[in-house]
Amino acid sequence: MGSNSWKAGEPMARIELPTPPPGKNQVVVDVHAIGVNPVDWKMRTAGPLRVAARALSAVQGPKPPVVIGVDFAGVVAAIGPQVSGFAPGDRVVGGCNFSRAQRGSYADTVVVFPDQICKVPDGVSLEIAGCLPVAGVTAHMALTEYQPVGPHSRVLVLGASGGVGQFAVQIAKRVLGAQFVGGVCSAKNVALVRDLGADEVFDYTAGDALQMAAAHGPYDVIVDGVGSYKAKDCRKLLARCGAHVMVAGDKPENMVQVVVPPFRSKAILATPDGAHIAPVAQAVAQGKVVVHIAHRLPLEKAQEAHDLSQSGRVVGKIVLLVDRPTA
Ligand SMILES: NC(=O)c1ccc[n+]([C@@H]2O[C@H](COP(=O)([O-])OP(=O)(O)OC[C@H]3O[C@@H](n4cnc5c(N)ncnc54)[C@H](OP(=O)(O)O)[C@@H]3O)[C@@H](O)[C@H]2O)c1
Repeated sequence: MGSNSWKAGEPMARIELPTPPPGKNQVVVDVHAIGVNPVDWKMRTAGPLRVAARALSAVQGPKPPVVIGVDFAGVVAAIGPQVSGFAPGDRVVGGCNFSRAQRGSYADTVVVFPDQICKVPDGVSLEIAGCLPVAGVTAHMALTEYQPVGPHSRVLVLGASGGVGQFAVQIAKRVLGAQFVGGVCSAKNVALVRDLGADEVFDYTAGDALQMAAAHGPYDVIVDGVGSYKAKDCRKLLARCGAHVMVAGDKPENMVQVVVPPFRSKAILATPDGAHIAPVAQAVAQGKVVVHIAHRLPLEKAQEAHDLSQSGRVVGKIVLLVDRPTA
């Protein structure tokens, strides 16, 4: 699915493009499942940062027509002569990379480099694997890159019922073994977030969630997957060396927070490549992380998927499925 240019708001359309043979060090993957992320529709809507991202993509990325999307899971169809470690028939998961002049993942085939993919562990379906790259890697990085979470850590997740938030709660508690994990969501999602492993859940529809969470702090890591909570209020809840990780930090007013001393608010940009996806996929295979799929739609309904994602109310992941026999 793509559009004819990088222009904002251009409608998506199905377009036929030839699948090139793999380059010497490239892998062709038949796509089965595509995880939908807010970045997919953000790239198509206006806004200063998005315009900058599109301009960068126009220079560095593939020439139009543009195929959007990052997450994919599928089966290796062909490999270049220099590729080792992968073979046709392997089930793999990965992320497309516009800055490597690649087309996106809303397609029946992608052509990527081997470092962008990893094998899908046995027992994990391609549908589930397709949901891991951006959301799973972002959550894992937020909990490990700045102030690594361990058994003594206290973690707060804002937007705990969302795509990134659900991974963050489970990875913090069940993979990294945090001492305390708090989650912020609305009343209807409290039971779900508790089931994911949160020790306490703070309902933002019942009052000031940060104030409620403060009683259980201070926090070593706050993962902000919402972006509308004031960064200075989040920082007040931090332990001395704690980090406020702004996952949803793409508004200009949030971006400037990274330069406010003592520099505890951190911006994060996920790198959904094979090395970063592998630990998340392993955690899923071990049953430590469960992926809640809120909506399954055929690839042809990508616009409907974007409308759902843009509502900001999706609980878990949306996955687009390519019509082919499931591996
Ligand atoms: N920096 C990066 O590399 C990176 C990577 C991934 C995502 N992101 C960004 O991070 C954000 C989250 O992504 P996502 O995939 O998790 O989005 P998502 O799945 O669409 O998030 C939706 C969730 O947000 C919750 N929510 C909305 N308002 C809330 C509030 N005031 N307090 C608590 N929860 C609230 C909703 O729960 P309720 O219905 O209960 O309110 C819903 O479950 C997006 O802005 C995305 O662009 C950035």
